[in-house]
Amino acid sequence: MPKPAARALVAIVMAAGESKRFKSKSPKVLHDLCGRPLLAPILETVASLKPQKTVLVVGRNADQVQQAASGMTKAPLLGATQEKQLGTADAARTGDEALADFEGDVLIVPGDTPLVTAKTLRVLIAYHRNQKAVATILTATLDDPTGYGRIVRSNNDVDKIVEQTDATEQQRQIQEVNGGIYVFDRAALRSALTKVERANKQKEFYLTDVIAILKEKGEKVLAKAAPDPSEILGINDRAQLAHVAKLLRQRTNATLMQNGVTIVDPDFTYIDPTVKVGPDTVIHPPAFLHGDTRIGEGCEIGPGARIRDSQIDDCATVIFSVLDKARVGAQAQVGPYAYLRPGARLAKGAKVGTFVEVKASEIGEGSKVPHLSYIGDAIIGRDVNVGAATVTVNYDPETRIKAKTIIHDGAKIGSDTMLIAPVKVGKRAVTGAGSVVTKDVPAETVVVGNPARPLRKRKKPKGDG
Ligand code: UD1
Ligand code: CA
Repeated sequence: MPKPAARALVAIVMAAGESKRFKSKSPKVLHDLCGRPLLAPILETVASLKPQKTVLVVGRNADQVQQAASGMTKAPLLGATQEKQLGTADAARTGDEALADFEGDVLIVPGDTPLVTAKTLRVLIAYHRNQKAVATILTATLDDPTGYGRIVRSNNDVDKIVEQTDATEQQRQIQEVNGGIYVFDRAALRSALTKVERANKQKEFYLTDVIAILKEKGEKVLAKAAPDPSEILGINDRAQLAHVAKLLRQRTNATLMQNGVTIVDPDFTYIDPTVKVGPDTVIHPPAFLHGDTRIGEGCEIGPGARIRDSQIDDCATVIFSVLDKARVGAQAQVGPYAYLRPGARLAKGAKVGTFVEVKASEIGEGSKVPHLSYIGDAIIGRDVNVGAATVTVNYDPETRIKAKTIIHDGAKIGSDTMLIAPVKVGKRAVTGAGSVVTKDVPAETVVVGNPARPLRKRKKPKGDG
């Protein structure tokens, strides 16, 4: 006997709601959740199921949401615009119209439920198929079910879903809630959607009414509980956004700890799910690690670190510092109180210390900028020491360009040196304290004064010839 063909799957993501409870000028689904728009995690989760098609239902700001969403997953998204926000049944109908003559299962998810996992959705779909149901609802039992649709059962079977606003006092006591995520047989869904009315307090077309409609027809409707009730939590307002963000961070931190990262105080450690951290790295609170940040093994991060889109190699330390698009080599030290701006690159064993700002500059292997300096648009070689309060004076007001400072290997920059760029300091050259360097300094030469002038040749290091 030939095997029955596997049922096909498509997905509808509903993200057209007006988000009234959010009170925002920008669309709710584009608000930040741990470094990404809150729509991103569920789109990614749905994409991982490889549905034949994914329809994104958008409304107000349709173009903006559609464009942002296309950058969130590699899977192609079909856009469907819901002209008026008449409710979730209307959103589902709008999405369904984009499915042409598809036959099979439709997974419907709201855009505001980021914590649901792919595993839970897979289990939901498998259960729906094995049980040959026409509709299967993902549910959860919540300590506080306020705001969610309640699952009303009779003789243990799902009867209908009642929304909070329409529920009786008795129904409001029900703690089993609708997660807003369903698998439907497409044909059954289509026909039921035509029968939904606006006979409720909000005068909306409720997708949840489809359940009672299918039950009345004698169809098989099932509910499946999410393994962790928090997976179904939706984000309707900013308090829920903060709550879901906290849960997402707990998840991220738990995974990192399982993989060998020490997080001293997870409650005060804010790591985006996109961040990677190697084993035996210790993260002290408070720490904020964002975006495309990659941290190696055995690093010491914090206390006090705000790191965005940066790479930190093994055994480096970052204390009370801010890093943005920076690169820190192995065993390098940053801080306390350093600011590494975009393009700051520290080689292996380099140090950028207290009250030092570095921008678009390379600090070579073993080189040190320990205190109170500004290093911008500079290339610093190996084993250079930059004395306290040194400034690369990189802005030329005449040409209005940022000029470069190049300091060669082994140079010693005296405290309070002003390097008026463009300028080069030769290999093993020395600038005296307070020098104002306006001209290139030859190698092995000591310069002093304002403007700095050669004083003598530098003494050979001990042990050289
Ligand atoms: C909905 C369910 C509720 C469930 C809860 C789970 C209904 C009527 N209620 O309530 O039973 O417990 O989700 O989180 O479905 N949307 C549109 N167009 C619209 C209206 C909504 O696209 O016209 C989208 C929203 O952007 C959102 C999703 O549908 O992503 C759900 O709408 P929302 O208003 O958040 O419904 P809830 O009140 O949360
Ligand atoms: Ca919601």
